[in-house]
Amino acid sequence: MNSIDKVIQSGYFNDTLRQWHCLNTQITPFNLMYPIFILDDMDLKEEIKSMPGIYRYGLNHVKSMLDPVVESGLKSLLVFGVINKLPKNQHGKHADSPENPVIQALPLLKKWYPELTIACDVCLCPYTSDGHCGIVENQCIDNEQSIKRLGEIALSYALAGADIVAPSCMMEGHISAIKNSLMKEKLLSRVCVLSYSAKFCSVFYGPFRDAANCSPSFSNRSSYQIPVGSSSIAERVVNRDIHESCDMTMVKPGMMYLDIVRQIKNNHPNIPLFIYQVSGEYAMIHHAVQGGVYGLKEGLTEILRSMRRAGGDVIITYYTPIILKWLKETCPL
Ligand code: PBG
Repeated sequence: MNSIDKVIQSGYFNDTLRQWHCLNTQITPFNLMYPIFILDDMDLKEEIKSMPGIYRYGLNHVKSMLDPVVESGLKSLLVFGVINKLPKNQHGKHADSPENPVIQALPLLKKWYPELTIACDVCLCPYTSDGHCGIVENQCIDNEQSIKRLGEIALSYALAGADIVAPSCMMEGHISAIKNSLMKEKLLSRVCVLSYSAKFCSVFYGPFRDAANCSPSFSNRSSYQIPVGSSSIAERVVNRDIHESCDMTMVKPGMMYLDIVRQIKNNHPNIPLFIYQVSGEYAMIHHAVQGGVYGLKEGLTEILRSMRRAGGDVIITYYTPIILKWLKETCPL
């Protein structure tokens, strides 16, 4: 029988040769950050309907969920607070009150996992009564009040133990305000700033807004998030944030914005660039796999590899636990 089991093309006919062409796009645990949602109700654990397989955890469930992930090699975490019971108000009072779930979780997370790098999302939308990312006065964002408040919130997270504060609010001057408030408390040597700089006004955040209970009660976020069709605004805000000395920057969402990732990487090759694979991307991949379009490992590996190829250094993904498991079997992916 004349059977051919392999088609051979010179140049990359074995695995080592193929890997040589992909060395700067590999995925290791350092290339992943895991986002989690912590609730103000200690004993509750709730699945997020629009993100099958992803939960919001009360503080009493966090350790048993994270232990195996840390054991699999987790390097960094991104923490979001969600309030169901605490009241919301115009200034997002509970963003940094002692009852805030992030403020309560941080000292415990640091005690349980001293080696883990912990980032906290800094935004007002989960805590304001109108669900906007800044403080609203007469139906307008008041930028000055907003960045002052964001500086206070970032400082509270830093004092509670965060290694990284990550403002996702898209306010003008947010990085300077946060850096100044950290500097006043001499925290700049211990805490750095990851800016969600190039954050587009995307429909792919839909499931997150269910998860964090933070949809705007009127209007939308188009006055402070980047219009989908614009690469020039993305460039401008990244330049602004780097000028204000953010330590790391981000493009969000991921898969549809890889041209922006490449543009930013070309213009700023020396600053770590994060990509947020957002909730709607998680859901899209989940449903494609359910529908038999591709296998999770094959589909996700191709997407992550493409993100690395475009210039992303770290990918924030809800799929982190399973990717770490795969990496234990085959590292790097
Ligand atoms: C809050 C914030 C959002 C996300 C991260 N931080 C939602 C938004 O801006 O509307 C989205 C994350 C995701 O969709 O997974 N400002």
